[in-house]
Amino acid sequence: MNEHIQQFKKVAVVGTGVIGNGWIVRFLAEGLDVVAFDPAEGAQERTQKALDQAWPSLEKMGLAKDANRNRLTFVPTIEEAVCDADLIQENVPEREDLKKSVLANIDTYAKKDAIIGSSTSGIMPSVLQAGLNYPERLIVAHPFNPVYILPLVELVAGNKTDANVVGRAKKFYASVGMKPLIIQKEIEGHLADRLMEALWREALHLVNDGVASTEEVDAAIVYGAGLRWAQMGPFLTFHLAGGEKGMRHMLEQFGPALKLPWTKLEAPELTDELKEKVITGCENHANDTTIAELENKRNAFLVELLDLVESYWPETTAAK
Ligand SMILES: NC(=O)c1ccc[n+]([C@@H]2O[C@H](COP(=O)([O-])OP(=O)(O)OC[C@H]3O[C@@H](n4cnc5c(N)ncnc54)[C@H](O)[C@@H]3O)[C@@H](O)[C@H]2O)c1
Repeated sequence: MNEHIQQFKKVAVVGTGVIGNGWIVRFLAEGLDVVAFDPAEGAQERTQKALDQAWPSLEKMGLAKDANRNRLTFVPTIEEAVCDADLIQENVPEREDLKKSVLANIDTYAKKDAIIGSSTSGIMPSVLQAGLNYPERLIVAHPFNPVYILPLVELVAGNKTDANVVGRAKKFYASVGMKPLIIQKEIEGHLADRLMEALWREALHLVNDGVASTEEVDAAIVYGAGLRWAQMGPFLTFHLAGGEKGMRHMLEQFGPALKLPWTKLEAPELTDELKEKVITGCENHANDTTIAELENKRNAFLVELLDLVESYWPETTAAK
């Protein structure tokens, strides 16, 4: 067991939906004790189902020596969940008022030196920590679904976050097999979701305008850019698109095209018609395959892909 795991023996997961359960699986697979709290009826059963679904992928990726699904305890109150945890991961729905009230409870009951990580996709940490008594220990730790396979976690400090907490959080998340990326400046949506949002907005326009079906948009990514992106991001990809002179030539050649009104910055109105198009598009694309079957397929693919990425790219900037 490494030193940082030793410092963080017990973690609490507050809110056990898609993301909370993803964290639970990752933490258990890394050999930690996990305490979970979610007031929704049937939450515990849903977590067990999520564990059943994900555990085979984790076995394939390699479990920590002391990993054990039985090291998870569900408790009936938030106080019991957080009172002796070394790190608390908050994953309640993306509503500022709800998050603030849950974080205020965590702040009341958590140990003073515990780290509070919020999974928020878009809210800035300075907003979340504003009313806390001990705001210096709050940091945004934004993961990606499925949390137990994808290594990226964006760490964002608010204006009251202690620099020491950023360093400790970075070591902790790295110790559970992740690639922490410290975001230099807080903004809504952090970094990766800013990029995803731009693509998502454009994808909705293409479907709304009848340019493509949801399946065709997916194909355009799966067989093209998506394959490249698993290895290189947009910058290095375009560096190669410029021939021998790399990005210099790329910008000379395609730079002026940026001024063409190709893409739409405003999101389309989510009308009932657009929603129906998107929903039926996805359901037809999935055909009779259930969500659970699709998740299994995705997990198996990602586990193999991650091995491939790491064999080509053993050191990523995120981990430095
Ligand atoms: N879904 C994603 O792909 C994704 C990715 C990264 C981050 N996130 C972020 O993670 C957070 C959770 O998202 P999700 O997709 O897991 O949502 P979700 O709706 O699947 O789960 C939220 C869970 O919080 C529980 N909850 C509600 N009120 C609570 C309370 N007072 N105390 C404790 N638990 C409570 C709900 O019962 C539910 O189980 C959000 O901030 C979201 O932005 C989501």
